[in-house]
Amino acid sequence: MDPFVFFGGKGGVGKTTVASAYALQCSRAGVRTLVVSTDPAHSTSDVFEQEFGDEPTPVEGYDGLSAMEIDPEAEVDAHLRETKRALDDHVSASMINAIDQQIELAHRTPGAYEAALFDRFIDVMEDADDYDRVVFDTAPTGGTLRLLSLPDTLDGWIERLIEKRTRSIDLFEKAAIGDREARRKAETDPIIARLQERKERFEFAERTLRDTAAFYLVLTPDELSIRETRRTVEDLAGYDLPVAGLVVNRLTPQPDDDERGQGGQFLRQRCATERDRLETIRTLDPSVVATLRTRPGEIKGDLLDEMAEELAIESVPEASR
Ligand SMILES: Nc1ncnc2c1ncn2[C@@H]1O[C@H](COP(=O)(O)OP(=O)(O)O)[C@@H](O)[C@H]1O
Ligand SMILES: [Mg+2]
Repeated sequence: MDPFVFFGGKGGVGKTTVASAYALQCSRAGVRTLVVSTDPAHSTSDVFEQEFGDEPTPVEGYDGLSAMEIDPEAEVDAHLRETKRALDDHVSASMINAIDQQIELAHRTPGAYEAALFDRFIDVMEDADDYDRVVFDTAPTGGTLRLLSLPDTLDGWIERLIEKRTRSIDLFEKAAIGDREARRKAETDPIIARLQERKERFEFAERTLRDTAAFYLVLTPDELSIRETRRTVEDLAGYDLPVAGLVVNRLTPQPDDDERGQGGQFLRQRCATERDRLETIRTLDPSVVATLRTRPGEIKGDLLDEMAEELAIESVPEASR
């Protein structure tokens, strides 16, 4: 089993709930686990009835379980500040205003949100030494995955920038220090160094996702959710990242045969619909690793424990067996 586990899926299908239940299951099996939530609306704070912030914090009452919550809006702001600061050091005062405006604009696109979030994911993955398993309640899709091709793009840029810098180094100096030295000087240019650093960071992310991550998709027995799941499976496959399994959430409990009232009839019809949908889901390539019933209330406390027990996802890492 892999140290990084992602639960993807459409909004509201139960990613945070399932990720929390899975994290709980891991910690109960003696695996030091961190659950990372990214959803400001309903998140691990609600599930565990404890406030979590930007840094990992032990979950009270649960041994070996920590949680953190990343606020994507705050990440975009931090990213914006950091980008400006990094540029301000290298650009003349007269250009700063114009550049600042461009950067502000760039950070107001939806892609910026995903990029900032993914950047924070990389931080967490780099810093995960204290845990045997890190569980994310969202999986990178479409726009975020495209960031994985960033190293190739940056490679081209860096190469061209180095060439330009080498050429633009004063001819006299070049004559004095030679071609090779001019190239070395260009390579130590702070902007190029920063691009290089970004490149290595995303290379690390790609390697980590490919070699030490597992992706699960959570879905409900609804057509929209099934369609979205198909798309995400394809998105991930496009980047050579296979989906390890599907978790079908919110299945309706079957009523007793003698329940003849309106409620009983409704439940029987609903169960029949869900059986069809489940059949469709079972034809998809990643196999179904768990099916979870709809519970009568919010999933926390004992209900979370129940759910963790129903999640038949392997939770003990290979190494410790
Ligand atoms: N099996 C279930 N039974 C009952 N309620 C559920 C179940 N799974 C999720 N929920 C509820 O549905 C809502 C959305 O779940 P959540 O895990 O926050 O979804 P997501 O993270 O995918 O947006 C929450 O209020 C959660 O308690
Ligand atoms: Mg969520």
